[in-house]
Amino acid sequence: RSAPRVLSGIQPTADSFHLGNYLGALRQWVALQETSDAFYCVVDLHAITVAQDPAVLRHRTRVSAAQLLALGIDTDRATLFVQSQVPEHAQLAWVLNCITGFGEAGRMTQFKDKASRQGSDRASVGLFTYPVLQAADILLYQADQVPVGEDQRQHLELTRDLAGRFNTTYGPTFTVPSPHIVSGAKILDLQDPTSKMSKSASSPAGIVDLLDEPAVSAKKIRSAVTDTGREVRFDPQEKAGVSNLLTIHSALSGRPVAELELEYAGRGYGDLKKDVAAVLTDFTTPLRAAVDGYLADPAQLDAILAEGAERARTVASATLAATFDRVGF
Ligand code: ADP
Ligand code: NA
Repeated sequence: RSAPRVLSGIQPTADSFHLGNYLGALRQWVALQETSDAFYCVVDLHAITVAQDPAVLRHRTRVSAAQLLALGIDTDRATLFVQSQVPEHAQLAWVLNCITGFGEAGRMTQFKDKASRQGSDRASVGLFTYPVLQAADILLYQADQVPVGEDQRQHLELTRDLAGRFNTTYGPTFTVPSPHIVSGAKILDLQDPTSKMSKSASSPAGIVDLLDEPAVSAKKIRSAVTDTGREVRFDPQEKAGVSNLLTIHSALSGRPVAELELEYAGRGYGDLKKDVAAVLTDFTTPLRAAVDGYLADPAQLDAILAEGAERARTVASATLAATFDRVGF
């Protein structure tokens, strides 16, 4: 292979991706497609590990794909597809489930967190084996690298263990993937800058959705929690809210934080917030238009995704055939 193979997925569990998803992950996807053979998927099989309304899920899968295209995922440079359109994911996951220890899966901290929030009787077995499906996503494509944030490290470790275990038991079959540590920014909740911006946040006012109308996001920025001081200074410990706004400004405008600190010397938080809202609008206005364009032509979007699934299946079916052969099917 000339370029490293990269695999990454994102769940279609919201009507819009938020600024944290973009600055922490998706922006790196766009960069990585230049230097790698990237496979990106909208992981709808993962989404049903918690209850989903079918019509809502169908819409969110499409709008997620439209956002990825609008953000710059280019089908000449990367393979973009929807997970459920490539049946090999679920098929390989079954095989991997059968070499995963019950206790091993039970040690996944993300499962423990989510299950304790839902109650263990309501948490599904699918949620329990979520990281095994994630391993299948990666191993099907013989990925060399997986872009991961801190929250996904343990799952990638499991993937590596399963790949190694299968290879040792049945003979070399899977590439053992390495983590590609993403250098993305961690974006904090505007209302609670002690925790990360997340769709599971208690207040929608803390989340900037990429598809928010400019007036809506401007209001959220204006209402962002700061501190009782007046100095615009990057200090994540003492000034988490202001630092978060500087991070967002810098990431979207491309200007270094130090330069922004100088620019706001002697000026108030209101000026900073106004400018953050403006750079955000400059970014989201063409993005929203592009998403609308994809959604206005469903046949074209379907065709793009069908082609992506076909390309993905070429690779996935070869890996699955080799795996089934090893297992004795
Ligand atoms: P959420 O926390 O909203 O449920 P996900 O867990 O679905 O988001 O995350 C999707 C991707 O976006 C992951 O790669 C994750 O690391 C990244 N991400 C999510 N929230 C943030 C954030 N606040 N800052 C940086 N990256 C984030
Ligand atoms: Na590429």
